[in-house]
Amino acid sequence: LKFIAIVPAAGVGKRMQANCPKQYLCINNETILSHTVMRLLSHPLISQVIVAIGANDQYFAESSLAHHKDIIRVTGGTERVDSVLNGLKAVDRSIYPWVLVHDAARPCVTHQDIDKLISECLSNDYGGILATPVRDTMKRGVQAKDNAKDENITILSTVEREQLWHALTPQMYKTGELTRAIEQALENGVNITDEASAIEQAKLPSLLISASSENIKITQPNDLALAEFYLNKQKNNTDK
Ligand code: CTP
Ligand code: MG
Repeated sequence: LKFIAIVPAAGVGKRMQANCPKQYLCINNETILSHTVMRLLSHPLISQVIVAIGANDQYFAESSLAHHKDIIRVTGGTERVDSVLNGLKAVDRSIYPWVLVHDAARPCVTHQDIDKLISECLSNDYGGILATPVRDTMKRGVQAKDNAKDENITILSTVEREQLWHALTPQMYKTGELTRAIEQALENGVNITDEASAIEQAKLPSLLISASSENIKITQPNDLALAEFYLNKQKNNTDK
């Protein structure tokens, strides 16, 4: 059994505040997108990667990824979910009954965690996601309108941390089930922020698979140095 990965890479990276979309920033002279895609393709069970690229993207065509035989390009959409759906439409379900979806902005995912995800999903015969347990005490806050400064937020309550997880990627599902679940959610106008949320809406089961916290999503400027640190550490280790 071989696997295909969809990499949504059509975001603008607003929170990164860089002069290009964050997936094209370089770490060790290689773009984040290239680190991510090559990390997936070098996994022995992943044979192809579909990348969803923004309609007005000026960078991808000039990258070495554009000419790679195992990389398929599709056009991304307005929201992440639209980009993923465009990727799903390009998957041949007879070859790939399962699909992994992985953020372009997560170059530090390890092969060990991908192994774990694939083997857990196959042995349970349903999909799942990599996740890390929440470590801090979590608070629910509300805008304190009567306060002097209107940006003040006051604590409403503490949220039980025991059951809370950070949803990471890859997220792995049966190709047909995920496509249907996303289409259904979009028809119903439900907000879908990851693949699991579409599966939850469809009342299908999903696994939470405890993963390495090194698998960060590069979101804001100070994440770059952290990702570089993890990538260098993984290069020197065998834990990639
Ligand atoms: N993404 C996408 N299509 C979109 C929006 C996002 O393919 N319309 C991708 C991004 O390129 C990224 C992943 O989804 O790899 C996760 O999204 P996020 O980290 O939010 O990236 P951006 O949307 O680019 O960043 P921001 O929200 O700060 O603008
Ligand atoms: Mg975004």
